[in-house]
Amino acid sequence: MEQKKFYITTPIYYPSDKLHIGHTYCTVAADAMARYKRLTGCDVMFLTGTDEHGQKIETKAKEAGVTPKEFVDKIVDGEKGVRDLWKLMNISNDRFIRTTDDYHVEAVQKIFRKMYEKGDIYKGTYKGKYCTPCESFWTESQLVDGKCPDCGREVKDAEEEAYFFRLSKYADRVQHLLEDTDFLQPRTRVNEMVNNFIKPGLDDLCVSRTSFNWGIPVDFDPGHVVYVWVDALFNYTTALGFLNEKYHDYDKYWPADVHFVGKEIVRFHSIIWPAMLMSMEMPLPKHVYGHGWLVMDGGKMSKSKGNVVDPYILAEKFGVDALRFFLLRTFPFGTDGNFSNELLINTINIDLANDLGNLVSRTTAMVEKYFDGKLPTEREDTDGDCELKKLASTLRERYEKQMEAFQFQNGLEEIFKVIDRANKYIDENTPWALAKDESKKVRLATVMYNLLETIRICTVLLLPFIPQSCEKIFDQIGACEGCRTWDGADKWGSLCADVSVHKGEAIFPRVDAEKALEELNAIQEAQKKAALPALEVEPYVEENVDFDTFLKSDFRAVKIKSCEAVKKSDKLLKFVLDDGSGTDRVILSGIHKYYEPEELVGKTAVAILNLPPRKMMGIPSCGMLISAVHKEKGEEKLHLLLLDDAVPAGAKLC
Ligand code: MSP
Repeated sequence: MEQKKFYITTPIYYPSDKLHIGHTYCTVAADAMARYKRLTGCDVMFLTGTDEHGQKIETKAKEAGVTPKEFVDKIVDGEKGVRDLWKLMNISNDRFIRTTDDYHVEAVQKIFRKMYEKGDIYKGTYKGKYCTPCESFWTESQLVDGKCPDCGREVKDAEEEAYFFRLSKYADRVQHLLEDTDFLQPRTRVNEMVNNFIKPGLDDLCVSRTSFNWGIPVDFDPGHVVYVWVDALFNYTTALGFLNEKYHDYDKYWPADVHFVGKEIVRFHSIIWPAMLMSMEMPLPKHVYGHGWLVMDGGKMSKSKGNVVDPYILAEKFGVDALRFFLLRTFPFGTDGNFSNELLINTINIDLANDLGNLVSRTTAMVEKYFDGKLPTEREDTDGDCELKKLASTLRERYEKQMEAFQFQNGLEEIFKVIDRANKYIDENTPWALAKDESKKVRLATVMYNLLETIRICTVLLLPFIPQSCEKIFDQIGACEGCRTWDGADKWGSLCADVSVHKGEAIFPRVDAEKALEELNAIQEAQKKAALPALEVEPYVEENVDFDTFLKSDFRAVKIKSCEAVKKSDKLLKFVLDDGSGTDRVILSGIHKYYEPEELVGKTAVAILNLPPRKMMGIPSCGMLISAVHKEKGEEKLHLLLLDDAVPAGAKLC
């Protein structure tokens, strides 16, 4: 029988900044899917990569004082860059594409020319609204409150000579694809696409730019670069060798079985992408799955809010497998999920440390203790064993159903039902009591074997999620190569009857929740602070004061004769000042946080004198010292306004 093929892709990432846990989510999900398909015996092609052109990258590179290519090279290939992150997360991609790779650039030029020669790309003038960060053109009707419907930021009027793709020509075929097939999943995304984008009328799409250079040049019209989304979407085919000689797997793997994409880019993948493929007369991918976002406190993660979560920090603290597991166990793939550190720690402690980890360590410890690590081969099954055996041996079928529908959370839920059942089986059979009675040794061995078999089956099916930990579990329970496979996962009794276990260290140590939370929260606080503007000055006052009123304000140079802290006040300093009048003046000022009294004595400051006296802590204050205030990284800074000591007390400031 011919081996089944499976081609899966992630979106290719914008290397405009470091990737965060939200980006990691989709790639981990795609990796679990790829590993699952390999486990089932498929010939898998798993592609990821980076989408490196466009105005945003050009602008960021300019700000950083480097060329766009140098800029992206650092984020893609540099330390803790995109490739490093996927290595760390144990991502098993078969290929990695960069859209700046020569073979891709040449292929996109050929594709653009083909659509042009066919008449599906034509030259016109673009007038419309453009969102620079999203690199998206919008019609007036698509804007939300006059702003970009994707990111909510300001859009600007744009007009330029440009090439257009006849998207409108394919509107009916795309609508049929969305409504009458299972191309776009989950189904809830279909209405959104049809009602918001197709029904209001699909305009032709502007597919070239002249306002910046960092893109693939249109080879027959210099000055134009290919719209970044056209360039990016075709990566799924050029990475297989479409219209290039770098690879030769296009016929083998295209059409893709599934593109995993985040919900905000479903529009590009379910409308524009199939329309362009129709134009190119190429087969369409079988599915596009639009997953939800990981959000923080209900909002999207963004560097400017300082709420992005760094996967490096979490992986280092809790381990890569724990992080992978958390992402797919906690959130349904199709909808948004609210990330929190508490949730992460709870999932690790409950599912991994308590349920799975304990099951493995208790079972292997008992086999070591009661049988010196090697089970005898005699068995004595009872009716009470049937439920566990049946549940475990039919697990693969239930799991497969969920995995085929990309329902990772449900697939894991099925496994954990069996793990829970096995833990209960230990309590029901009380092996420690059986061990006390020599005549119950065979029964004890049977209980142990049933537990090891259950663990083995669950571990095979956990392989796509926590591959490194599964290998450790297999080694601990003495699983032979043959019983670590998909075929072995629905065959009860695959483990050797006289299996030897090797209890090792705990695979998922319990996390000290309080300590870990404190550390993570401190990191996040620091991050939020770092995201605050470096310098912030008080808002400017719009209202004018008339000149005469201003002149009435009596600002004077004053010499600080003495300064002391006011008793029972954290903030107030009491200043005795020479204001040039011959009589001492007392002013209280709430600046103790910024100055120690001694350091100000003898200095020449500025005060406004003709304010009505005000009592503070029972002491009348006659005027106010003037300071300069601003915020630095969110923290208030104050500098008392000091003059050159040559300025005499009483000098008027005007
Ligand atoms: N370059 C385009 C994709 C082109 S595909 C031909 C792009 N890149 S991106 O880096 O901005 O986003 C890549 C993916 O990360 C998108 O699918 C996006 O939805 C996903 N995520 C970014 N932040 C996310 C979360 N907070 N949560 C989940 N996924 C999110 O779009």
